[in-house]
Amino acid sequence: MKIEIAYGAALKVGDPPLQEDELKRTLAQEIAAGFKQLQVLREEGEVGFIDLPYQDLSSILQLVDQLKKDPPEWLVVVGIGGSSLGLEAALQALHPFLPSDGPKLRILDNVDPEKTAAVLREVDLSKAVVNVVSKSGGTAESMANFLVVFKALSERVGEYEAKKEVVFTTDPQKGTLRELANEHGFKALPVPPNVGGRFSVLSPVALFPLAFVGASVRELLDGARWMAELCEEKAGIENPALLLAGLHLSLCKKGKNIAVMMPYLTRLEGFSRWFCQLWAESLGKEGRGQTPLAAMGANDQHSLIQLFNDGPKDKMVTFLRVENPEEDVEIPGLFSGKETLGYLGGKSLHSLLLNEQIGTAAALAKSGVPSITISLERLNSFTLGALFMLYEITTAVCGLAMGINPFDQPGVEQGKRFTYALMQRQGFEREMEEVKRWHLAGNASLRLKEE
Ligand code: PA5
Repeated sequence: MKIEIAYGAALKVGDPPLQEDELKRTLAQEIAAGFKQLQVLREEGEVGFIDLPYQDLSSILQLVDQLKKDPPEWLVVVGIGGSSLGLEAALQALHPFLPSDGPKLRILDNVDPEKTAAVLREVDLSKAVVNVVSKSGGTAESMANFLVVFKALSERVGEYEAKKEVVFTTDPQKGTLRELANEHGFKALPVPPNVGGRFSVLSPVALFPLAFVGASVRELLDGARWMAELCEEKAGIENPALLLAGLHLSLCKKGKNIAVMMPYLTRLEGFSRWFCQLWAESLGKEGRGQTPLAAMGANDQHSLIQLFNDGPKDKMVTFLRVENPEEDVEIPGLFSGKETLGYLGGKSLHSLLLNEQIGTAAALAKSGVPSITISLERLNSFTLGALFMLYEITTAVCGLAMGINPFDQPGVEQGKRFTYALMQRQGFEREMEEVKRWHLAGNASLRLKEE
């Protein structure tokens, strides 16, 4: 299976452009130091995501078999952030390979009442399994959706039966979900303590639901292992994760403060959203970090590309392309006398899409916007697993090279504490005073009313 990372358009483009020797220096210094630190953290057992491809899948697969004895028609997954984005990305990327008669899956991530109500109306809970995914076992959105779904399920099948249809994916020792599992006998799968939420897509977090709907989780892990081993063996510019981390870091130093991820295949749209969370929550720290931005080819050629080409020169773009789609469509040679139609006839939609990507990259280079193009021979479980691992290692190395901790998220804590105070959670009374002080929206506002 081939993956190519073309980075010619990241060098010698822009003002001042990145030179190859600068890239090599960054690789030999900061990136090499960051990678060394990652290897030490892995050896010490502090960081576990690189070891996920070697996990034993038997407990996940046995649980799937057990729950599928009485074939359920639905799987409802409750989870948010790192507990849902990787699953969403994988489901979208792999949908051509999923059995069409398998269970249907719905994800409740947000606490959007309209969405939750719609899912509860749509799903026949008497034929559903519910998977609540929360590493901490206490995230407000996931706990709220769990309570809502569990009540609805209990009303449908009775509390005793309902408990049998729920699977928690959570920390092996602590947190409310683990306590509930111990106290009430809910089934539970572990999230390794040394694997953080946004690095957990290759853990039971996404593997259980993916196996449940019939995805090839072994191939996903095989691809991830292939990439992890490549990144272990290769040095410097030959190492795909180090190369990407080096390019991002070097270009960031040149003012490229926005990292655009732009796939040219709809199946990779979820991957861009997953990348955005991984990049933002891992690297946005201590006043630093590149802002990730998801774009979509060719759609955003009619939207964001104007800004990329002609706006502030603060962006670098990563294109993702898939050389062989699972299907292609020929454009019919109709109305060939018309100039705007004739040249399209007999070509395929995919050839148009890929040529649009090349055209866009060339136009960006001409405007001084650097880009990287990652080409996958095909998009399947193996290459998706490789891509997940590639970006996880790239992100971790980048953060460690920058001298920040890519594995924590202090910036999300304050808002959570204020929300707890507003929702009258015990122990957060003091935060209420602070919320009143900092909730500045009411101090200056424009109110509109139709008379
Ligand atoms: O990457 C992270 O740590 C976060 O995005 C978490 O995944 C998110 O906050 C959900 O956390 P939890 O799985 O504990 O419910």
